[in-house]
Amino acid sequence: MSTPHLQGNKGDYAPVVLMPGDPLRAEFIAENYLSDVRCVNRIRGMLGFTGTYQGVPVSVQGSGMGMPSIGIYSYELYHEFDVQSIIRIGTAGGIAGEVKLRDVILGQGACTNSRYADQYRLPGTYAPIASYRLLKTAADTAAELGIPVRVGDLLSSDTFYDDADSLAQWQKMHVLGIEMEAAALYMNAARAGKEALCICTVSDCPLRQEFTTAEERQTGFRAMMELALATVTKL
Ligand code: HPA
Repeated sequence: MSTPHLQGNKGDYAPVVLMPGDPLRAEFIAENYLSDVRCVNRIRGMLGFTGTYQGVPVSVQGSGMGMPSIGIYSYELYHEFDVQSIIRIGTAGGIAGEVKLRDVILGQGACTNSRYADQYRLPGTYAPIASYRLLKTAADTAAELGIPVRVGDLLSSDTFYDDADSLAQWQKMHVLGIEMEAAALYMNAARAGKEALCICTVSDCPLRQEFTTAEERQTGFRAMMELALATVTKL
């Protein structure tokens, strides 16, 4: 039984899946952190792996960029592979004034400018939120590891290059960071009765024109990966 986008069989994914946007990051995590690891997806080069971390089964699966892409992969994982929890690990642009380069954000909620929620035909505005269990476990784990985190709202945007230049408006609402996937992931989790969390490291602060180097992004990514993996062992 494979799906249109994932070639595995039921049982090929662990109940908890870490989802970086970049499939090569999935491979990096598999090679550097997991034991007994095997590749479970190569379709479209969107690499997925399953193994164990400190004896706990875990999968890592690339999501691609944007809500349509993570929408497809997370839907198939939740509905066809019995996945219970997805933790996205990605980068974000810092928006709120106090957010600095390399900060780690736990996305408690995800505002969005996308029409993803239209499919649910709700008579109002849906508020996509993280699973409290995942959020609390990640926050507690970060405190134990001595990794400072900020907890609050993300903005999941359909545009990376945005003609409207609207970040200052979102800053007024104290949105911490902009990325492009969390809202769709949170909605898919809610609709499936499952769990999701988005953890981001701040790779740039577009309002201040500040950017990290590739090396800084790699180091920052390691702290976030280690937080996400340690969180998995506590679920
Ligand atoms: N915009 C959207 N997504 C992002 C950004 C950004 O500035 N930085 C990292 N992911």
